[in-house]
Amino acid sequence: MNNFAVAIDGPSGAGKSSLARRCAQELGFLYVDTGAIYRTVGLAALRRGIDRKDEAQVAAILPELDIALRYEDGEQRMFLNGEDVSREIRLPEISLCASDVSAHAAVRDYLMETQRRLAREHRVIMDGRDIGTVVLPDAPLKIYLTASAEARAERRMKELAAKGVEQSFEEVLREIVQRDEQDMNRLVAPLRRAEDAVLVDTTEIDFEESFRLLCRIIRERMEAQA
Ligand code: DC
Repeated sequence: MNNFAVAIDGPSGAGKSSLARRCAQELGFLYVDTGAIYRTVGLAALRRGIDRKDEAQVAAILPELDIALRYEDGEQRMFLNGEDVSREIRLPEISLCASDVSAHAAVRDYLMETQRRLAREHRVIMDGRDIGTVVLPDAPLKIYLTASAEARAERRMKELAAKGVEQSFEEVLREIVQRDEQDMNRLVAPLRRAEDAVLVDTTEIDFEESFRLLCRIIRERMEAQA
């Protein structure tokens, strides 16, 4: 039997990563952060100084990239040609680079098998933008996690401040709205809710409540499938 997979999609800043990581720990799943994989390609493109909006230029560097995902103490780490880039890909400027390169079919195709293989080999909670719609269309549970742009900007600002990165609310909100726009309106695998995804809106609920709600949804679906 295939491994049970939970596909979580939603816009940036909805809390997907922190919630998915915490649920995975709680329920004994492997947490796969697919955004980190796109971020690694975005970083490589930035370093090469190529035009990230130009699919041919981005496609040309793919064969030279060795992108590896390793788990250390349960934490997913990203390696680019042998170098651990797990911290660098979190820099705010990498977010838009990732969004730019992720719009290209060449990049999405290139990363598809890695994501599917992880879901075949492990019991995963995988988060991203197209996991329920494209990568794992047969996942037994799909969740679309969202929150208002303002709530997401507020949370992102706090996260950045905790890391010592100061950005104004307006700046963070502008970046979130721009990324939503790009991720939802691209031609290939745009962010959208799969028809059979459970909608979870965390605008009005805090992290702990969202965490309990997600764990409950996952447990119930697993019991129903057993
Ligand atoms: O989740 P994140 O913010 O780390 O993702 C960075 C960018 O990567 C995001 O703006 C869109 C893209 N992405 C994607 O297109 N598909 C995914 N499955 C995950 C991320």
